[in-house]
Amino acid sequence: MTAQILDGNALAQKLRAGFKVRAEALAAQGARPGLAVILVGENAASQVYVRNKVNACAQAGFYSEKHAYAPDVVPQVVLDKIAELNADPKIHGILVQLPLPKHFNADAVLEAIAPQKDVDGFRAENVGALMQGKRCFIPCTPYGAMKFFEEAGITVKGKEAVIVGRSNIVGKPMAMLLMHAGATVTVCHSQTRDLKAHCLRADILVAAIGKAKMITGDMIKPGAVVIDVGINRISEGPDAGKLCGDVDFAAAKEVAGFITPVPGGVGPMTITMLLANTLESAERSLST
Ligand code: GUN
Repeated sequence: MTAQILDGNALAQKLRAGFKVRAEALAAQGARPGLAVILVGENAASQVYVRNKVNACAQAGFYSEKHAYAPDVVPQVVLDKIAELNADPKIHGILVQLPLPKHFNADAVLEAIAPQKDVDGFRAENVGALMQGKRCFIPCTPYGAMKFFEEAGITVKGKEAVIVGRSNIVGKPMAMLLMHAGATVTVCHSQTRDLKAHCLRADILVAAIGKAKMITGDMIKPGAVVIDVGINRISEGPDAGKLCGDVDFAAAKEVAGFITPVPGGVGPMTITMLLANTLESAERSLST
């Protein structure tokens, strides 16, 4: 069997075209969606992500601002900027790119963002609302992953879903979303005994561990839907420098029913759902 590829670039493009129309409609009412991105330090990957976010805003007709700080900036300077952005009516979403340098208390920085502008969905209020199934900003990566099921007509209700990874950004919110959608969810992590046995039960397998090709072909149930959230850079061998996921794609695609590639799978959908949340925030600003 060769799996059907879930194309994140194509889905992202389709959704973003719709966002552009909604953004122009909001602009006509004086509320063009606006995103502020804060970057601290010189992490190369973060610089790329931030650039991609700002470019995605421009392409979708959103307003955006980037605020970049030296790695040794005093945290209060960033907190003061967040307070200013919280009060700025042009800004509907504020994103602080993670990770922050070690001298920062990342939780305190994230909690400084006004809840109605927390488009990453990282604040405790948002996390709580997500858990209770109430209106919230859904964290962008798991939100994007869920869109693949909808697009490909994959039923989640009643399925066995196994998530490998328990991070606040992906694993935990993904578990909530799959549970709300009717799946029976297992969350595996570094202490899990017999990971392979869990994975082999999965109709839906989400890999969010951050270890290159950790999920091998023999860990996948035939016909399963495999969502690969990992983005790893291969350090040696003939493919050195290339990106790969947490799943051994070449082997997995011979077993799975559907699979997201890396790159071109979940990655483009993360930024797309950041735009979706910013748009939603702008729409809410008109109705409140
Ligand atoms: N760093 C890695 N992923 C993310 C994300 O989704 N949001 C933010 N703010 N930082 C990140």
